Amino acid sequence: PDDGESEPWYPSPRGGTVDAWKDAYEKAANLVGQMTLVEKVNITTGIGWSMGMCVGNTGPVDRLGFPSLCLQDGPLGLRFADNATAWPAGITVGATWNKKLMYERGKGHGFEAKKKGIHVILGPSMGPLGRLPAGGRNWEGFGTDPVLQGIAAAETIKGIQDAGVIATAKHYVANEQEHFRQAWEWGIPNAISSNIDDRALHEIYVWPFADSVRAGVGSVMCSYNQLNNSYACQNSKLMSGILKDELGFQGFVQSDWLAQRSGVASALAGLDMTMPGDGLKWADGDSLWGAELTKAVLNTSVPMERMNDMATRVVAAWYQLGQDDKKVWPPESEGGGPNFSSWTDEEVGELHPGSPDSDETGVVNKFVPVRNTEEGGDHDALARQIAAEGIVLVKNTDDILPLSRDGKGGMKRDGDDKVNIGIFGEDAFPNPNGINSCKDRACNEGTLTMGWGSGAVELPYLVSPAEALHDGFNKSMIEVTDFPSNDYAEAAKTASKQDTCIVFVNSDAGEGFVSWDGIRGDRNDLYPQKNGDKLVQKVAESCENTIVVVHTVGPIILEEWIEMPSVKGVLIAHLPGQESGNALADVIFGDVNPSGRLPYTIAKNEKDYGPDSGILYYPNGVVPQQNFTEGLYVDYRYFDKYNITPRYEFGYGLSYVGFKLNSLVVNTKGVGGPLPRERPAGIEPPQMDNTLPSPESAIWPSGMRKLSKYIYPYISSTSDFTKGDYPYPAGYDTPHEPSQAGGGEGGNPDLYQTAALIQAQLTNGGGKPADCVVQAYISYPENVTDIDGEPVDMPVKVLRAFEKIHVYDPKRVSVKLELTRRDLSYWDVKQQNWIIPKGEFRVHLGFSSRDLPLTDTFSPLE
Ligand code: NOJ
Repeated sequence: PDDGESEPWYPSPRGGTVDAWKDAYEKAANLVGQMTLVEKVNITTGIGWSMGMCVGNTGPVDRLGFPSLCLQDGPLGLRFADNATAWPAGITVGATWNKKLMYERGKGHGFEAKKKGIHVILGPSMGPLGRLPAGGRNWEGFGTDPVLQGIAAAETIKGIQDAGVIATAKHYVANEQEHFRQAWEWGIPNAISSNIDDRALHEIYVWPFADSVRAGVGSVMCSYNQLNNSYACQNSKLMSGILKDELGFQGFVQSDWLAQRSGVASALAGLDMTMPGDGLKWADGDSLWGAELTKAVLNTSVPMERMNDMATRVVAAWYQLGQDDKKVWPPESEGGGPNFSSWTDEEVGELHPGSPDSDETGVVNKFVPVRNTEEGGDHDALARQIAAEGIVLVKNTDDILPLSRDGKGGMKRDGDDKVNIGIFGEDAFPNPNGINSCKDRACNEGTLTMGWGSGAVELPYLVSPAEALHDGFNKSMIEVTDFPSNDYAEAAKTASKQDTCIVFVNSDAGEGFVSWDGIRGDRNDLYPQKNGDKLVQKVAESCENTIVVVHTVGPIILEEWIEMPSVKGVLIAHLPGQESGNALADVIFGDVNPSGRLPYTIAKNEKDYGPDSGILYYPNGVVPQQNFTEGLYVDYRYFDKYNITPRYEFGYGLSYVGFKLNSLVVNTKGVGGPLPRERPAGIEPPQMDNTLPSPESAIWPSGMRKLSKYIYPYISSTSDFTKGDYPYPAGYDTPHEPSQAGGGEGGNPDLYQTAALIQAQLTNGGGKPADCVVQAYISYPENVTDIDGEPVDMPVKVLRAFEKIHVYDPKRVSVKLELTRRDLSYWDVKQQNWIIPKGEFRVHLGFSSRDLPLTDTFSPLE
């Protein structure tokens, strides 16, 4: 197809093709085999917005013991739930570069969900990837690089699912900005189209989803936007071709909330579940599926085989995660199901608040404690550790940090009895109106702990930076003065009396359904908000020792003050969640050595991110078109290609301890040829009975009460639909050729074979134990050509592996990193496969994308 068009890919592959899901599929096929058509429809369709306790609820099949599934946001905690952990946001987790913490956070998140009766967590988020630095929801994901994003997503998924809860990889795919992500919020006829070439789609945007599928993710959420002018939730190439065939996805695809834009077309293209069930308008109760899907199956416009596959995929994911275990997941009749309500904080509340004619109430909030339990562990402590490791120290002149608690080390100026320390900026203090006072956290008041929207949660408590710093300083030696506002004109007076000033600034963003101060999700610029730049300038003009703490959703321009000599220390503390202050104090006082690294580039100038890196703030057509013209050159790849010097590069971060790398050796493993081995056949999905049931079986059961706006699967009469010979999309009846890049979860298993082993020695020169992130980037051979001899453009270098290593005694440890066949390949558009180019590769090993002291070469194909 031409640029900006999406190729048809039919029919949608069935699930049940890999060994790891065999048992789950056999059980699922058996259960679905006993379901009537309306029961199958019921489990693929949400019952409608706020008809159940969760943000998404499917219809149950009580007769067979299949529950209503509870789907709940989101990536950083349990939205609308009481007393659950407000974890550090994805961007903070990405900044830790710590795989173990990524996993542990996922596991804690999953544990809490299970205890609250949540079957499916709507996270992690790995799209947006961060192509646009001002993108409103970049902070929900882990950073602007497919490998970092993919590893963090996979670890999170393993954690969530090891706790027994289905994870959701979202948003598939290329929902890179909030403006025009869908039509109705923005008053336009159609959602934006992200137009991406096949290679960038594979190497950048789909890459983390491949890792997620390989990690066994049970669900994928298709996004609001269009991809190459076809809605993501009815894009057959995306859902059936890439996700289900090429990546071998075995779970179910659910729509983002109202991202489904058609009934039959979406089912044929590979959508398996519609959320929250309503139709084209929010909470209209007028589903595109429900009864409409029943009719579509009965009149054959959706084949029974597809219907069976949809239902089987949902049930298989449930079995795969062991949710049929009645001891862990008792039925609702025995007290199971969600034990919290998304719609009220009271104990007793409405059971179907979305329906105008339901007055049924019951105990909806049981206030189950989940944060710190014997079984689940101490999540507050874990959240603190993650928040601390997600802090990036970017400037530390004269080793101003760490600070001593009792003012030792030259902090005191002559003449005063005590050392004077000032804490400046409202971002150091809690929101005076209450920590959860803004709905969905959609305001920037007080210290910033998370962005806003469905990815935000209620803070169970908050340790503010000011509180933790006050607690940390020894008051007999240090006088702490608070300046809890951003009134920069007044700040100088207070600042001039201090020995050391700690100034807080921030930058907030969120999801586009709410706005704050003219920010409709996506930021309007990359500068600190609320006059933050002026506040820092004024303080630093009067205070020789200024330390700036930045809470931010992502890249932020620091140029207004970063080179001021009195700005000696700068910490990018990201979005820390409930343990904000404690985590910060851990780093400021040196109890924790800063080991966070930037998961994106901080530029000197917004324009440095590239000509197409800005948000499209005004629609440029009936279908707003956003061309991803930079292709592969996102973030550091762009800076490298055009030789632009950033302020702080991707992967950058300082430490209180010096590290050294030496003795790099790269060994290749003998990969065979440039292409992966032939696609393995896979196993046969279980047999299903695809005969059409009688229409009578789908009619409303007599005597059943119908709630208005609630979504049901039943038809009123057998004349509700018209029989006919409905055509399927072109190519539907000839099975699409399977992709050679497929054959297992995440793609052809051969892609994940180790192709090279990197080894080196890491020395801690600082004398105390500390963590260090070692990063491996590769450069492809020069002058790569494709099968027609045409040149293949290659980025200067790409991140391919990393490890956070703890170094104590002995002070030298070995570093081992692996590169897979996929890591050494590029996506060849002509051959539609991953190819290792001939020639000499280079490995660069080091501490950031621009601090790579060691290089070695290797030729995997020789
Ligand atoms: C829309 C958001 O885009 C998605 O991330 C979220 O999971 C759903 N709403 C449900 O809240």
